[in-house]
Amino acid sequence: MDAEEHFATLAAVWDEHAEAMDAAMGEHGWAARAALAAAPGERVIDVGCGAGLSAVALGADGWVAAVDVAAEMVAAAARRMSAAGVHGVAVTADAGTADLVEVAGAGVPFDAVHARFGLMFFDDPESALRNIFRALRPGGRLAASVWQQLLDNLWMVLTTATAMPILGAQRPPLPEPGQPGPFSMADPDATTALLTGAGFVDVAIRPVDAPFLFEGDGRAAAERVLSAGPLGPAFLAADAITRREAVAGVVAALDQYRSPTGYLVPAASWCVTARRP
Ligand SMILES: C[S@@+](CC[C@H](N)C(=O)[O-])C[C@H]1O[C@@H](n2cnc3c(N)ncnc32)[C@H](O)[C@@H]1O
Repeated sequence: MDAEEHFATLAAVWDEHAEAMDAAMGEHGWAARAALAAAPGERVIDVGCGAGLSAVALGADGWVAAVDVAAEMVAAAARRMSAAGVHGVAVTADAGTADLVEVAGAGVPFDAVHARFGLMFFDDPESALRNIFRALRPGGRLAASVWQQLLDNLWMVLTTATAMPILGAQRPPLPEPGQPGPFSMADPDATTALLTGAGFVDVAIRPVDAPFLFEGDGRAAAERVLSAGPLGPAFLAADAITRREAVAGVVAALDQYRSPTGYLVPAASWCVTARRP
């Protein structure tokens, strides 16, 4: 299953749970937006926009082009943007290969690129990052969140490792480092080389270490992470009893992270910033 098919399959889940997932991921969800610090009136392209939460925030006092390869995600983003009265467009396109200035910018290069966990799924990351670089005007900025390595993201390790045998998944759905997938940009040196090779300068990579919150008794959050994550297609295809068993297994595995507000599970991302000279 390629990235487009994978995310198209999960788009309804991402749409339904967008606000809850946003609350659960805390600083990981807004670090890149804060680093970008878009000025009023700037034109921003949100790469891999998903269900559109970050596009709504970015477009609050500017203009945003929300781009995603999965049409189902773009439909959700367009609906959220329209409901919020955001100025901009929502466009279905492969950000790695499409002429972004033409398809999303009406011929005018962008002031800034934002991506919240949207840059890690390209088959050819070198060429994709060069393509994204070309969407910026000279002096334009990039800010992106990408996950640190899998083992620093116990919210993902524990949910996936616990649920996999219960769901009968044959092999870990998480790809090797360097291959397209949530952890493909986990190595900061490789990411710096990738961005520099694409033409970017002033590459800076800052760690964001903030827990991922599985609120309340943890069950709703466990169900969301299982539905929206790498095991999503297997979880959504399972029967109700198996799904309940997987959720209960995950909550038990998280027990050591229980707190009065819910389960605070270690999570780590990088906030990557760079500039087109
Ligand atoms: C992990 S999700 C993040 C979604 C959203 N930014 C968020 O934080 O909620 C990754 C998104 O990138 C999109 N994506 C993957 N490959 C893409 C590509 N080549 N071009 C554009 N979008 C892509 C997926 O469809 C998916 O919506």
